Amino acid sequence: MVKITVRVSLGKDSYDIKISYDFLSSLGKEVSKLGYSSKAVVITNTTIADLYKNKIIESLNAGNIESITLVVPDGEKYKSLKTASFLYDKLIESHIRRNNPLIAFGGGVVGDLAGFVAATYMRGIPLIQVPTTLLAQVDSSVGGKVAVNHPLGKNMIGCFYQPKLVFIDTDILKTLPLREYRAGLAEVIKYGFIQSKELLELLDNSPDKILNKENDVLLKVIAKCCEIKARIVEEDEKDFGKRAILNYGHTIGHAIESLTKYKKLLHGEAISIGMAAAANIACQMKLIDAAVVEKHKKILTSFGLPIKIPQKITLEEILERIKLDKKKKQETESLVLLKKIGEAEVFEVPKELIAQALENTR
Ligand code: NAD
Ligand code: GLY
Repeated sequence: MVKITVRVSLGKDSYDIKISYDFLSSLGKEVSKLGYSSKAVVITNTTIADLYKNKIIESLNAGNIESITLVVPDGEKYKSLKTASFLYDKLIESHIRRNNPLIAFGGGVVGDLAGFVAATYMRGIPLIQVPTTLLAQVDSSVGGKVAVNHPLGKNMIGCFYQPKLVFIDTDILKTLPLREYRAGLAEVIKYGFIQSKELLELLDNSPDKILNKENDVLLKVIAKCCEIKARIVEEDEKDFGKRAILNYGHTIGHAIESLTKYKKLLHGEAISIGMAAAANIACQMKLIDAAVVEKHKKILTSFGLPIKIPQKITLEEILERIKLDKKKKQETESLVLLKKIGEAEVFEVPKELIAQALENTR
C-alpha cells in the first residue's frame, strides 16, 4: 500500500498528515501510536455516522482504543456555540479528561466544530482530524483554524489549534456526492494557480482520472495540496502575512456566496467564480496575460465548475459586499492576484478595475 506522510513543522506543535487509500482500518493503530489515553471520543454527523460509524469503531478497537461516538446533525447551521455546548455536556457526562483524544470525523463543518470543542474543552484535549470531504482533506483539516459561526458572521468564534495527526483515506471520498467533490476541486485548482505549475499541469492532463476518483492520482494531488498548505502554515501560522494567498478567489467568492444566501452555490463553486474574476482583474492590471485567464476558464470548466457570476446579482451588490462604496470616487480593495502561474501576492486594486472585471465575468 502506498502511504505518503507530509510533516507540518511547527516546533512543539508539529504533526504528520498521513495519506493513503483503503486506510480506515489503520486509524486505531495510528491513534494508538500517539500515546494518549486508550479512550477516545469520535465526533461526526448523522450522514457520515450512517456510512462509517461501525468501521470507525472496529478500526479503533483493532488499535485497542475504546471509543464513544457523538453525532451532530448535518449542516453548516450546526457549526454553532449551541452544538458546541451540547458536545461539552456529553464530554463531561462521559468523564473525558485532558488525555483523551478527540477524533473529528467529517468534512470542514465537523472538523471546525469538533476542533473548536477540542481546543476549548478543559483548555484543550488532543485533536485528530479525519477529513472526509475533498475540501477538508486538502484545506480545512490542515493548519489549525477551528471555529464556530456567530449569527452575525461565519467563523467569528474560533482560535488556532493544531491537530496531533491528520489522517486521510482517499477511499472515503468514494461516497462523497460528486457536486461536493467538484467543489473541493476548486480549492485544489487554487493551490495550482497560487503555488504550483506542476500541480496545475497534473490537473490539466488528467481530469477524467481525477473525476473518477482514481486512488493513484488522488493520492498525488492531495499530498501536493497538503504539502503546499503545510509550507505556508509553517511560514505564517497565525495568518498575518503569506497565509493570505490561500484566499485566492475568496473575496469575490464570499460576496457571491453570501448574496446567494449560501443556498444556490457551494463554497467551492463560488470560489471558482471568484478565481475567474481575480484572473480578469490581474489581466487588466497587466500582471498576467489573456492566456492565463483562458487557462482558468479551461481548467475550472473541465471539472464542471462555474466561472460566471449569476445574472441575478448586480455589480453594485458585489461592490457593496466587498465594502467598496459606489458613491466614492477613489477606493481600493486588497485582493490576492497572480503574478504568474504558481505565484500569488496581495495587491491593492482600484474599484473601477474590479467593476470592469466583474462585468467581464458575466
Ligand atoms: P461539509 O462538512 O458540510 O460536508 C459537505 C457534505 O458532505 C455534508 O452534507 C457532509 O455530511 C457530507 N459528507 C462529508 N463527507 C462525506 C463522505 N465521505 N461521504 C458522503 N457524504 C459526506 O462541507 P465542507 O465543504 O467539507 O466544509 C465546509 C466548511 O469548512 C465550512 O464551514 C468552512 O467554513 C470550513 N472551512 C474551514 C477551513 C479551515 O481552515 N478551518 C478552510 C476551508 C473551509
Ligand atoms: N483556508 C484558509 C486558511 O487555512 O488559512
